[in-house]
Amino acid sequence: MSVSLSKLAGSVGDSPTLKLNATARALKAAGQPVIHLGGGEPTFPAPQAAVEAIIKKAQSRQIKYVPSSGTPTLKQAILSYTEKNYGRRYELNQVIVSAGAKQALFNFLLAAIDAGDEVVFPSPYWVSYPEMIKLVGGTPVPVKGAQGLGVTAEELIAAVTPKTKAILLNSPCNPSGQIYNADFIKQVVEFAEEKNIFLVMDDIYHQLVFDGQKTPNPCSYAKEAKNLVLINGVSKLYGMTGIRIGWAVSAHTDLIAAMGRMQAQSTSCNSDLSETAAAAALQGDQTCVSELCKQLEENRNVLLSELLQIPHVKVEKPQGTFYSFADFSYYNPSSQELSKFLLEKALVAVVPGKAFGLEGYLRISFCADKASIIEGVRRIRRALENYCPHK
Ligand SMILES: Cc1ncc(COP(=O)(O)O)c(C=O)c1O
Repeated sequence: MSVSLSKLAGSVGDSPTLKLNATARALKAAGQPVIHLGGGEPTFPAPQAAVEAIIKKAQSRQIKYVPSSGTPTLKQAILSYTEKNYGRRYELNQVIVSAGAKQALFNFLLAAIDAGDEVVFPSPYWVSYPEMIKLVGGTPVPVKGAQGLGVTAEELIAAVTPKTKAILLNSPCNPSGQIYNADFIKQVVEFAEEKNIFLVMDDIYHQLVFDGQKTPNPCSYAKEAKNLVLINGVSKLYGMTGIRIGWAVSAHTDLIAAMGRMQAQSTSCNSDLSETAAAAALQGDQTCVSELCKQLEENRNVLLSELLQIPHVKVEKPQGTFYSFADFSYYNPSSQELSKFLLEKALVAVVPGKAFGLEGYLRISFCADKASIIEGVRRIRRALENYCPHK
């Protein structure tokens, strides 16, 4: 008999996306020609400036602890980025650098959520939100809209109760690729500020938008913005997922200080090399971001034209990110069964919609190269030609 684990350990599930990555990697390593359309990282190489900075830093042989909440150089770069993109000047004590946007969000939850507090967010949602909220003892409140993949501001606001401590938005959204429009953002920003509820903007994809669109700026509707928390990072923007640098910015200095304490007592600080690379990417030439967007927009168009050739599949055009969320319920209402079938029979990895709170859907990424996208969707189409287990 082995020593028992904590109740918390038993209450938290695996990340379905990370698990899928591991399965696809293992199949590939075993020599299977798997096409991975389940991924969450651009294939783009890291910006040259980031690579040069990391080499220079490594060659100095001075790789030490850095200040727990981030180096002043990186914090300044983040503040410039924030001012440029949100038109609001924050101070050094209003930013914290973490090991990815994920840790920034987790630090926020640790610092803001008590047992029983509710966190309201639209559904479909990023797989990690419910589990992270549960980890800190909070109650996840996903809100599904009546129509399509979106949620109206009224629907979201109607889910707020006296127990609601925070509203969490991700625009454009993983998995749907949809952007919340200016009216929506204005209503939610004004509501949250008036009710004194935290509004967390997980803006990790906010620059990866298509067709000349822009994500509405929440700061332009806020007065003091004390309740507003902006979360971002270098993972998606520069295709630097392995660097593990993200951040949170907020005018609520006590919140940022508390997040800093959570981080100091858990991880001490981030990697010196990673912070150096992130600062160089933010300070460097930004044409890589527009090139990435252009490539992703082309990939999206390729994916959509292939997907539309699969009979009975419905899909809304993604406006940003690198995900499409398509309705495959005609073939199988169980997205887990269907994705398992597609991995085994078509050797294509896609993520079941259930993980994002919506059954019958599959999340298909378009961050792979075009040839893989085309071949992957064609394999799915062929596999489904004679597959109708529930008809
Ligand atoms: C919506 C959303 N937020 C946050 C993250 C985490 O990003 P990071 O790599 O910076 O931790 C992801 C990664 O997939 C994401 O999709």
